[in-house]
Amino acid sequence: MRIGLLCSGGDSPGMNAAIRGAVLRGVDWHGHEMVGFRDGWRGFLDGDEIVLDRSAVRGISPLGGVIIGTSRVNPFTSWEGEPEDYDRIRSLMSRSGVDALMLIGGEGTQTVSGMLHRNGIPVIGLPKTIDNDLEGTDATFGFDTAVGIATEAIDRLRTTGESHKRCMVLEVMGRNAGWIALHSGIAGGAHLMLIPERPETLEQVCAWVQHVHDRGRAPLVVVAEGFTLEGHDTVTQQGADAVGRERLGGVGEVLAPLIEQCTGIETRATVLGHVQRGGSPSAFDRVLATRTGIAAADAAENGQWGVVTALKGDRIVLTPLAEVSGRTKTVPDERYDEVRVTFG
Ligand code: F6P
Repeated sequence: MRIGLLCSGGDSPGMNAAIRGAVLRGVDWHGHEMVGFRDGWRGFLDGDEIVLDRSAVRGISPLGGVIIGTSRVNPFTSWEGEPEDYDRIRSLMSRSGVDALMLIGGEGTQTVSGMLHRNGIPVIGLPKTIDNDLEGTDATFGFDTAVGIATEAIDRLRTTGESHKRCMVLEVMGRNAGWIALHSGIAGGAHLMLIPERPETLEQVCAWVQHVHDRGRAPLVVVAEGFTLEGHDTVTQQGADAVGRERLGGVGEVLAPLIEQCTGIETRATVLGHVQRGGSPSAFDRVLATRTGIAAADAAENGQWGVVTALKGDRIVLTPLAEVSGRTKTVPDERYDEVRVTFG
């Protein structure tokens, strides 16, 4: 069997380890042939491929980024996918001699995997995203690394904030889910975390900040890029990304002067941005990603298509794409409420 593998969407620390896991198990153990398409669907459409064998994956687990590249190129000409899109994908697969696809990606990519599966194309999804917003899996590789980086940023902002008695606002990624903000905020001991799932009023935010300040501390606020102040619009950047989604970001810069205005406390914003996705994956992400790749190779060997290699507890479980496709895993109310009582 010859398998084509590609990465789609934003990069996520651990992608290299996932490729290595799939290749070591698939090529060396099961005797598969594997090719990687460069830069996601762009490489697939252009026939730009690279042989993935043992030597191609040597020593790549600790590397950040992804050796075959990724992109947000969409293989479909419409949201639903037209019959001719599926025909083209089938004929490009036969041009590359590929019998099946492995797609490493987040919510958008696994929605595409589901569409391919429903149209009879053998596919296995390998879940990744720093946002941790994929349904059907307990965690995605990349998330632990991003949380670690954001936590380190909080630790660093705390010392400069305390020195100047300032309020420090840290904006983190996550799109419409507050997982990175919630987990890094808990780990770093932030005084409040603002997440997209739970809008708050400016008055409430300022009351928490004031309370922290009154106790003689420098308030530390973590805000997720998708957070919206009650009565305000979500802050977006100009232009859309390659798949037409609005680009989030900038809420920290909007919030900081509002806090300063209503509390009189000098406030600074830091946008962590793509630093959260860069550099070497954490040990947890390397292990999760490697196991994900191994499970995908085993699923291919057994002809188990239409699944994602999901983490459930401490096991990798092949989970139907239907349980994952088109669904976002957001922070449940009870997870937010258990920490909200400690804000301020
Ligand atoms: O989905 C991962 C993510 O990092 C989001 O948290 C963020 O909104 C987005 O990607 C940024 O995408 P880009 O790399 O296109 O700027």
